[in-house]
Amino acid sequence: MIKFPKSFLWGSATSSYQTEGGNKHSDWWYWEIRNKRERSGPACDFWNRYPEYFEYLKQGGMNCFRLSVEWARIQPQKNRWDAKAFERYREIIRDLRKEGIEPVVTLWHFTLPQWLAKTGGWLNPQALAYFEKYVKKAQKELGHEIRYWITLNEPGVYIFKSYLEADWPPQKGIALFDAIKVREVLVRAHQIAFSILKTKINFVSSAFNLSSDEIKNTWNPVNHLVKYFLENFSDWGFLKRLKNELDFIGINYYFHNIINLPYQVAGDNKKSKDRSDLGWEIYPKGIYLVSKKAFSIAKKPIMITENGIADDTDKKRENFLKEHIRWLHRAFEQGTPIIGYLHWSLVDNFEWALGKKPRFGLLAMDYKKMKFLPRNSFWFYKKLIETYTEKV
Ligand code: BGC
Repeated sequence: MIKFPKSFLWGSATSSYQTEGGNKHSDWWYWEIRNKRERSGPACDFWNRYPEYFEYLKQGGMNCFRLSVEWARIQPQKNRWDAKAFERYREIIRDLRKEGIEPVVTLWHFTLPQWLAKTGGWLNPQALAYFEKYVKKAQKELGHEIRYWITLNEPGVYIFKSYLEADWPPQKGIALFDAIKVREVLVRAHQIAFSILKTKINFVSSAFNLSSDEIKNTWNPVNHLVKYFLENFSDWGFLKRLKNELDFIGINYYFHNIINLPYQVAGDNKKSKDRSDLGWEIYPKGIYLVSKKAFSIAKKPIMITENGIADDTDKKRENFLKEHIRWLHRAFEQGTPIIGYLHWSLVDNFEWALGKKPRFGLLAMDYKKMKFLPRNSFWFYKKLIETYTEKV
């Protein structure tokens, strides 16, 4: 077996709003209160307890960690930057480096400052100008410490959840025209961020949620039409649009999609019993197919920036890890340049509109006692890392 090189990035991924806690200037915070939803509250208290989390990263043999910067925390009001918040992010990043762990830093992971959200969010005509200022500021304050940037997390998923499915703020109902407008704004947002962040020595991408799409009944032209639609309006579409403004391809892999009219428009394999606590089909081969396909589109190295399972009892996570890494490794052996695998997530966290119930963590979080402990799969992942990495 050709092993992954020593430089391979093995780690786990998180986002600020889902783990830090106390993000009271974010739009989600207001949305939870207004809609009487489950509150994120202190979340995993990552903001204060990050050294304890980093201790686990080390113990688990990980050399990479994905986190995000909360825009609302560093710019709580339109005309105010919070110097202390920047200082804390600097500390967090330095701490990671001290432990020999490479930070991968996301600038926008679904949440907006409330001051912007209440004036239209991404549809505010000034939104891109505000975003540009934010990225410039982040680059100035943190840039010299960061080699891997993610500009946007899953722009296509955000548009779907916020403007079409109406499950996330601003929850407008089916707003097709807004969805189309936000899509253009987010394409520009990535381009702007790329041009600000790019230096000779760093690597910039977005994190794209790429599903493994498969057509059954290829003779039916409507199936091809559905596939075309899915591929252009999902994150596949963003990847195609942005392929020349990326240094690597950040892939979040979760979903298998079968397009099979007249039986189903799109959806997973209904016959499969292998499912997560959220009912999502487990389809490890997809990580192989998606990596190869993304590489054929953008011809850049691939980092799996998320891949994980909601599994409270931890009965399925070990096999999930084993099989996904096995398939990813196969793509690598066949010549696809894979540079890292980051498992979602290090710790159970606030799963957006679904609250704290879905358990994605290698560490199990006890929210009552605010304690976290490794699940068996945490140690299993460590062994996999050892098995798949060359020794010298
Ligand atoms: C998102 C995460 C989320 C995870 C599990 C990804 O689409 O980036 O924020 O928690 O999926 O649903």
